[in-house]
Amino acid sequence: MRQGNLPHFFIAMRVGLTYNLKKQTVRCDGSLNDHEAEWDDQETIDAIISAISRHHTAIPIEADLGAFDALKRSRPDIVFNIAEGAGGPHREACIPAMLEMLAIPYTGSDPTTLGICLDKGRTKEALQYHRIPTPAFELLESADACDRWRSFPAIVKPLWEGSSKGVRNSSFVATPDELRLETERIVEAYRQPAIVEAFLSGREFTVAVIGNGAGARALPAVEISFDSLPPMAHKIYSYEAKWVWDVPGKPLDIFSCPAQVDAQLGRRIAQTALDAFRALRCRDWCRIDIRLDDDCAPNIIELNPLPGILPKPEDNSCFPKAARAAGMDYAALINTVLNTALQRCRLLDPSPSAR
Ligand SMILES: Nc1ncnc2c1ncn2[C@@H]1O[C@H](COP(=O)(O)OP(=O)(O)OP(=O)(O)O)[C@@H](O)[C@H]1O
Ligand SMILES: [Mg+2]
Repeated sequence: MRQGNLPHFFIAMRVGLTYNLKKQTVRCDGSLNDHEAEWDDQETIDAIISAISRHHTAIPIEADLGAFDALKRSRPDIVFNIAEGAGGPHREACIPAMLEMLAIPYTGSDPTTLGICLDKGRTKEALQYHRIPTPAFELLESADACDRWRSFPAIVKPLWEGSSKGVRNSSFVATPDELRLETERIVEAYRQPAIVEAFLSGREFTVAVIGNGAGARALPAVEISFDSLPPMAHKIYSYEAKWVWDVPGKPLDIFSCPAQVDAQLGRRIAQTALDAFRALRCRDWCRIDIRLDDDCAPNIIELNPLPGILPKPEDNSCFPKAARAAGMDYAALINTVLNTALQRCRLLDPSPSAR
């Protein structure tokens, strides 16, 4: 795979960048509103624009109510899409659906895959169909449904959130009462069902995948180890661990990349990630969260087909971290994803016969 280096017959393009800009809304109690946790800050948007601008003309387009008109007016040759969307379980599918309507090619997965992967229940149904290991689960529309779940410890999460929204230290539950309380909290705060899952206490990894079809490849796995969390913390990569305890001034020593695993386990982790990538029909790129079960078998926790890509190494963003371990700096990562999409859309074919 060409890592951001362009073939000599390459053509400069007009590349749109669709994004949601973090406005940093503060709640009335002074705390930060996690509503925008998935969105990107100006620094990330600028870094992507700068990477695209090395070879192309970048056209930034905010994914707000004016996005359709802006896309229709500017008609980029291709769009680099990182728009997480404004709300609801289909929010990540909105911009790709508009782009489909306008027949503008774009990076990343289609609306169906984005919609399914945002819904952790539907993702797990698809994984189960393909016999890819994932922890047992149940959907809980309200606290009254909690009687359906009897296996502890477990973890309770909002059904269709990301960026650890709603996954708190208290999401680890050891009793039916804790399960009920957490389910109430999630249903009330996030206005959506909760998903309860068997808790996997083994090692945790996240795997960045780039490519398509037989050419998809896993970058070096990142291990998330929980030893540096505060002593009362459960071993989960919770909202507190991601956004409160791990800050640029005082980063947690939580990641290692490449993960220190023996060759056989490394291959199993990478293969499980690729199996999930293909089962969910992801395109171009995706970050896949994996945890080992009691038999040391890799299980899929979830797939992130719109992975976070904070540019500064101290921001501890896992996809760029894995890319660096594979020898790609930030600009090379962005251009590799873009070239992967261009190739998939037959807008760039690096084979000499295509000239
Ligand atoms: N079944 C499980 N067993 C053990 N730990 C789990 C399980 N499900 C989730 N976790 C822990 O909770 C964390 C967050 O869960 P998950 O990845 O599903 O949420 P998310 O908000 O979609 O994550 P992201 O920040 O990657 O978008 C995981 O990284 C893991 O540490
Ligand atoms: Mg996750």
